[in-house]
Amino acid sequence: GEGGSEGAKRRAGQRAAREVESGWVVGLGTGSTAAHAIRALEDADVRGIPTSYQSRGLAIEAGVPLTSLDEVEGVDLSIDGADQFARGSGALIKGGGGAHAREKIIDGAADRFLVVADPTKATDVLDRPVPVECLPDARPVVENRLRECGGEPDLREAAGKDGPVITDNGNLLIDCAFGAIEDPGGLATRLSAIPGVVEHGLFVDLADTVYVGIEEGVERIDY
Ligand code: A5P
Repeated sequence: GEGGSEGAKRRAGQRAAREVESGWVVGLGTGSTAAHAIRALEDADVRGIPTSYQSRGLAIEAGVPLTSLDEVEGVDLSIDGADQFARGSGALIKGGGGAHAREKIIDGAADRFLVVADPTKATDVLDRPVPVECLPDARPVVENRLRECGGEPDLREAAGKDGPVITDNGNLLIDCAFGAIEDPGGLATRLSAIPGVVEHGLFVDLADTVYVGIEEGVERIDY
């Protein structure tokens, strides 16, 4: 069945997919909300660049032809979900599905980046743990550096397997709680400077528009 939240996700995903124009190269985001956008591209004349193993599979199911950054001049538009977004600035926390490294590359390369979300993702101040993808050998030093940044690192454990989650890129995920993140840009810069951090889930100044699925339609927020 489709709960209220699933309906909100579907409305947001389908609304964003309507922005896609014929012939475009489209970044295909990861997660349950972006999945609705990918399905809505079923009959579109586009090529998609998947941000994860999951979105690659959904694109194949929907018959969306796949391409890669090597084969295109640029990315016209990217549609992706978020774990949390700051209403005022459009700063995001991503990586709940562990796909944020590839997502940041592709969403960041796009001329326009549309975020699709349900109302539970909206906040004034970002405060969820920040997913940090980490080279396996670097874990002890990365965790120390994260503590020096005021964080509480927590290695993400796998369900259905003993041991840690391994990303699509063969790395570990450390979920790092910072409490309220008053300065996402400053924290993003500090996290990016840690050797061994492949990518972190703070997306600052990347989102152009957030579509929030609501009860009676879709709210559009431009940044
Ligand atoms: C993947 O790593 C995440 O960044 C997803 O985009 C995010 O978790 C959104 O997922 P939902 O749309 O399923 O909430």
